[in-house]
Amino acid sequence: MLNKEEKALLENEETRECMKIILALAKVFNAEKLVKITSAHISGVSYDNIGDEGLEWLRSIKGKVVVPTTLNPAGMDLERWNEMGISEEFYRKQIEIIEVFKRLGVEITLTCTPYYIHTPKFGEHLAWAESSAVVYANSLLGARTNRESGISALASAITGRTPYYGLHIKENRAPTVVVKAKGDLSAVGYKVGLELPNEIPYFIFDKKVSLDELKLLSASIAASGNIAMFHAEELTPEWGDFEKPKEVVEIEGKIEKGCEPQLIAIGCPHCSKEELEEILRLISGRKVKKELWIFTSRHVADESKEVVSKLEALGAKVFKDTCMVVSPVTEKFECVMVNSGKALEYLPKKRGVEVSFGDLKACVETAVS
Ligand code: F3S
Repeated sequence: MLNKEEKALLENEETRECMKIILALAKVFNAEKLVKITSAHISGVSYDNIGDEGLEWLRSIKGKVVVPTTLNPAGMDLERWNEMGISEEFYRKQIEIIEVFKRLGVEITLTCTPYYIHTPKFGEHLAWAESSAVVYANSLLGARTNRESGISALASAITGRTPYYGLHIKENRAPTVVVKAKGDLSAVGYKVGLELPNEIPYFIFDKKVSLDELKLLSASIAASGNIAMFHAEELTPEWGDFEKPKEVVEIEGKIEKGCEPQLIAIGCPHCSKEELEEILRLISGRKVKKELWIFTSRHVADESKEVVSKLEALGAKVFKDTCMVVSPVTEKFECVMVNSGKALEYLPKKRGVEVSFGDLKACVETAVS
């Protein structure tokens, strides 16, 4: 099954271990061949997630990545970790992890929105971990990736290959159920993930939806379910390529979850430039009275310096490189308000906090009242 180049990757001491991981996966999934990738995105960066064992494993990896490779958020803002309440020990370990990734040639992007930095082209094969970015790349960009783990994404980055199965193959990308959806898209995604966890939905929305709303849908659908791709009628690049499924379900995006939040956390996935501007507009000059933490990437923050300073001047905190789920610091709050179906799913599980849910406007209103 291996061609000459791939055999060489297996013989080379620097790439052998990673090639073995790729071949083991190919065997499990009955992949007939490997395919070259154009980029990789690695998750499992927070020291809180991977611990000392993960760090040891990373240190054992030889070689360098051979395709552009981006990195998911870490457990802290690399500049404002002290202000966030991160301990010295955690800081040191987190920096060690980042140093290993640097040595491997990985770009220290520290974001779950790598598509704002390098946007994959239609039809390109990728090896991306981070389920929200996987759904975004497959559904909204028409690129092709399975839901990789941090380990398999790194192995692909070093070898430049991924097994050819699942969503790399066009016919496996066909929709399996029509979902007529109304209401908040984050909530729609959360419900679809719970009720139809193994489908490829074909959405029909009852209103105009923005790219940022589709990004929130991408994250929530992958968090409460195993979904890696959806289509949306007249919106996504492959919506018209397949026969429309016969089964139709209706979903209303409405989630009633309330507790009295001490923290309002926005930016799961990391905020786009447009979302930062929208938050500023919604605050409309009022002072932020509760803790309002906004998460974004260093890339977007750099592009939005003026908006970020205005948000900070009004009392919000704009953190980079991390998020409310992968950083341990949210554990000190009892109730956190979010507008993200993914945070709604993971904050109670990972950080043991209660969650209140509302759309972006409701979150901002709570923060200023
Ligand atoms: Fe991103 Fe953290 Fe949410 S990695 S998708 S902001 S849980």
